Order: sequence, then structure tokens, then C-alpha cells
Amino acid sequence: MVDDAVTALRAHLADALAEDPQVVDVLARWARWGPDLLVGLAEVYPGHADLAERLLDLVVDAHRARSEPLRARDRARLLAPDWFQRPDAVGYACYADRFAGTLAGVGQRVDYLRELGVTYLHLMPLLQPRPGENDGGYAVMDYGRVRADLGTMEDLEALAATLHDAGIALTLDLVLNHVAKEHAWAVAARAGDAKRRAYFHVFDDRDLPDRYEATLPEVFPDFAPGNFTWDEELAAWVWTTFNAWQWDVNWGNPDVLCEYLAIILDLANRGVDCLRLDAIAFIWKRLGTDCQNQPEVHAITRVLRAAARVAAPSLVFKAEAIVAPGQLVAYLGRGEHAGRVSDLAYHNSLMVQIWSALAARDARLMAVALARFPDIPTTAAWATYLRCHDDIGWAIDDDDCAAIGWNGYAHRGFLSDFYVGVHPASFAEGLAFQENPVTGDRRISGTAASLAGLGQARTDAQRRMAIDRILLGYAMVLGFGGIPLIHMGDELALRNDEGWAAVPEQADDNRWIHRPRMPWDRVHEREDPNSDAGRMWAGLRRLVEVRRTLEPLHASVATRVHATSHPSVVCFVRRHPAGDLLQVYNVSDATVAVPLGDIAGHGPELTLDRLANRSVTPYRGEHVLRPYAAWWLTEER
Ligand code: GLC
Repeated sequence: MVDDAVTALRAHLADALAEDPQVVDVLARWARWGPDLLVGLAEVYPGHADLAERLLDLVVDAHRARSEPLRARDRARLLAPDWFQRPDAVGYACYADRFAGTLAGVGQRVDYLRELGVTYLHLMPLLQPRPGENDGGYAVMDYGRVRADLGTMEDLEALAATLHDAGIALTLDLVLNHVAKEHAWAVAARAGDAKRRAYFHVFDDRDLPDRYEATLPEVFPDFAPGNFTWDEELAAWVWTTFNAWQWDVNWGNPDVLCEYLAIILDLANRGVDCLRLDAIAFIWKRLGTDCQNQPEVHAITRVLRAAARVAAPSLVFKAEAIVAPGQLVAYLGRGEHAGRVSDLAYHNSLMVQIWSALAARDARLMAVALARFPDIPTTAAWATYLRCHDDIGWAIDDDDCAAIGWNGYAHRGFLSDFYVGVHPASFAEGLAFQENPVTGDRRISGTAASLAGLGQARTDAQRRMAIDRILLGYAMVLGFGGIPLIHMGDELALRNDEGWAAVPEQADDNRWIHRPRMPWDRVHEREDPNSDAGRMWAGLRRLVEVRRTLEPLHASVATRVHATSHPSVVCFVRRHPAGDLLQVYNVSDATVAVPLGDIAGHGPELTLDRLANRSVTPYRGEHVLRPYAAWWLTEER
């Protein structure tokens, strides 16, 4: 069946592109990825016989419109499909306005990014959002327009070209779970357009919403309780997982699928290299579930991914699914979807475990939690990070805690107390985000530097200690494999933005405390080795430089995490045909000793610490690790 359809649609493609000089390439790509598209479609949209052809027509239009430089980029990427897996890949995430004012301004800061070693830039939402409150741009009103104060679509294209010339790939958000209620689809729906009304989940009365609510969690219990919003003009309830003005779209409607494919291909043709699939876990709804991670989510991703590969093969997808470990790996493809969905996914668990280990001065939970992760496809990679623009939610599993004799609820409570700074042993200055009185849940806002104690540090030794703590976190982020993402400002150890609440539209969302503006007048401090910024910059630069020389950090092999007999010391082991890499980390502020065998057991020949460029030698049968020590050990050269 699939084979017949692939052949029939091949003829359709061959016809449509008969005049195109690259028709042979497109047909080869269809032969390779067409089956993926058709299998995914059959799973979610059976009975829509014309849908594949509609999608293919969008592919044809996009291919025709694709510029020669981007077609050349496609050919180059097809020869180096592992570009985002390689040890020289380093990401940076920022808001264009907070970083450099405008898109053109970002183009003028490329040298700064290059100096840091950046090869991948994620610009936070920049497509036209609704006026007023817009969830940091995640309430998009027009996918075909850039936010006016940042520039135009032409500026976006120019920036992509500038970045490409500098060896930097561009990532943008694709907000695909919801649109702003001011988006043309929602406006038309309210005006009585039945076709557009069917783009949303609309309910005449509370019957179904109440039944869904019985099993639905709340994402923003504080400022947007519930998952449905009454709309006077619709005279109905509309699904709004996030804020009341973010309307969830109905992916069960094939028209919605086509609309989003057109948006994806348009962005690819502007020069976007990677799309961050925002809140992807939520796009399929099923009664009686939490309406996250439904199987259809992966089949839909597979369809979109396959279509994009035919039209614009240099484009990759990054899943933003902040979900439990057992569900997360599916976003990189499990079972029949392996290697066919997103190329990248955020490793939320690694991030949470780093902060948990630093607070507890104990890495045993990290070892248990990370060891449970199944392997990911060899063609995929994690996006690893210490901080991002969002809050930190304590995604810590009760069973993992029980495995080391801890109580999950108590540990999550400890972490919240610790990071808001009320726990007596705390070094942190964070804020509680979305305190949920029902579940006792408290998430955390704050920059890496403030959470790691730089604000509380009084003496030079304490400041050094705080920087070492951030650098330890970044050593794990860069050492794990995959693309490490630096959250803007972390490279200079920027502390909380205390003025965050002064902007009225931001005042009830304290995530703005960790979304500072780039202090360009202070950036020169990175050259002062005795300043916080200088120490942070030098440490991070060192990690980036060493990393790019270490082939074992290629994301095609997995990191295995092992506890040692000292609770504060954990090993990351990477076995690679090019040579093994053993990382040893002390997550505590104390000097600790570990029996030699706990470390040498992973490879007695792995004794050269590439970060310090010296051999580690045991003392009386033990390895001694300084506070927050990070070793990246290979064989001696
Ligand atoms: C993602 C974004 C977050 C936003 C949400 C809704 O989780 O990272 O900032 O609030 O999606 O779009």
C-alpha cells in the first residue's frame, strides 16, 4: 500500500518539478523519506486520501522558492548530517532585543558569539506576538511577520545569511500547540467562520471540559488556572492549556497540519536551520489522560519531519518536551519512530539533577535517575543546558528517590526551600514560580549565577566558589554529549535582573528575573581574570576549547552515569571507538577522597585530565578531589 502510494506520488512530484534542475535530488529524497510521511499520515489521518498530495504540493512550492544558497546548504548538510552532534557544536540562546536590540543588531554581535565558540544560535520567539502580555512571545499572532521593533522578514533572512557565513546555525521557535487569540484563525472563528472554528477545540458547554479537567494538570495554576476559557463571541469554551489568550489548535484537523507545514517550510526558506517545537507534548488531546505525550504527537512530528526533509533537508527539529524521563526519549524516536522524529530534545532531567546534586552536595540521585534513561538513536542528540528562559520544575521521580532511601516529596520541598534561599544551608537567591497549594509544587526562577550563590558571596573565596559551582554545572552540560546551550548572560555570570517587575506586562511572571539585558558596557570585564565575569568566561571558554578536540564527545554514543562510594562524586563514562572519556565530578564544596578503584575501574589508563592538561595521581590509594572538581580523563598522549 505504502509502496504504491510512494510511486504514485513520485510521479506527481516528477511532473510538478519537471523543469527544476534539482528534480533528481528531490525524487531521491522522496524515495528515502516518502514512506515515513505516509506511514505517519495513515496513523493520524486515516480516511483523508488527498492529504499526502496536499502536503506534497506544499513541498513542491517550497522547493521551487528555495534559494540557491540554501539548496547548496542542503547538499552540504546531507554530507554532514551530524553537524549538531559534533563536539564542536555549541549553542547560545537569547532574546534578540535583550541581546542586541534588533535582528540587525544581532548580526553585528556575531564576533562576540564566535569568540565564545558558538555554532548555533537560538533566538527566542520573534514572530509577531499579540499586543500586551504575550508569554515572552509564545502567543503568536502572525507567523509570517517579524515583531516590528526587531525588524522584518527580510532582516531575518539577512541575519540567517550572516550567521551562516560565520558558521552559526539559526534556531527559531515554532509555537505549534497554540496561537494568540488575536491570530487571524481565531479572529475568523469568533466572527463565525466555521472552517476556522474547527481549527480549535471548542465546546458548547462544560460537559466535555469538565471530563477532561478530571485528569488534566495545570501549567500556570497561579495566573491561568484551568485549561478552558469561556469566549463570549464564540459563545463556547475554548481549550487554553497555557494562558487564556493562547488558544490550543486542533491537530486532529488536517487543515491545521497543512497550515503548519506551510509555516515550517516558509521559515526554512528564510534560512532557519532548526525549529524548536514549543510545548510539543501537548498537541494531541485524549479524554481520560493528562493530554501530553500521546502517540499521535510522534506520528505528526514524523509527517512534518519527513516533508521538511524532502523540501529543505538541512532543517532539523528540536523537541521542547519538559516531561518525565520515560516519556522524553520518545521525542527522539522509539520503536518504529526511531530516527524519524525530532533530531534534538531538551534534557530537562540532566538540568534538574545538576541543581539537585549541587543543593544536596550529593550526586547519588543523579546517578540513579540518569542511568534509567534508555539510549537514543545514534543520529539524534540531547540539547543540554543548565539554565534557560523558563523556570526550573523539580521533575524528580519518587522511585528514583526511594532507590537511595529518600522521600521524593520531601526532596522536592527541600530543593524549593533551598533555591528560594530559606533553607539554612542555601547559597541561592531564587524566586518561587507558580506555587501550587494543591500539589505543594514550587518551581524556581533565577539566573545560574544567582542560584549558584554569586549574589550571597561576600569574600573573593566565596565568589570563586560560586563560579566554580556554575562551571561544574557547565562541565556536565558540555561533557554529556549533544549540543550544549548557553543561556545568554551565563558566560558572564550575570545575576538576577532585579528590575524585572518594572515592566507592567511582565510583572506577574517572575521568569523575567532570569532574562536580563546584555550589559554591553560591562562585557569587557571578561578580559579581567580577577572579575567574576572574567573567571566565568575563561572557564567556559576552556570547556568549549577542550571539548572540540574530544572526538568521544560526539553525540552518537551515550554517556553512562555511575555513582562512586563517595556520595558527592559521580562519573560520566563515554565509550567511543576514537578513545574513551571518563569524567569525574565532585558536586560538593568540600575536598573529598574517593577510593582509586571507583574511578580507575572505568579504565585504569584514563589518567590525563584534559581540562587541566595534567595527569591525575592517586594519594595513598585514593583520588583526592577539590571542591567542585571536574576532570575529563583520557589516555595519556
Ligand atoms: C514553552 C516555553 C514557555 C512557554 C510555553 C507556552 O514551555 O518554553 O516559555 O510559556 O511553552 O508556549
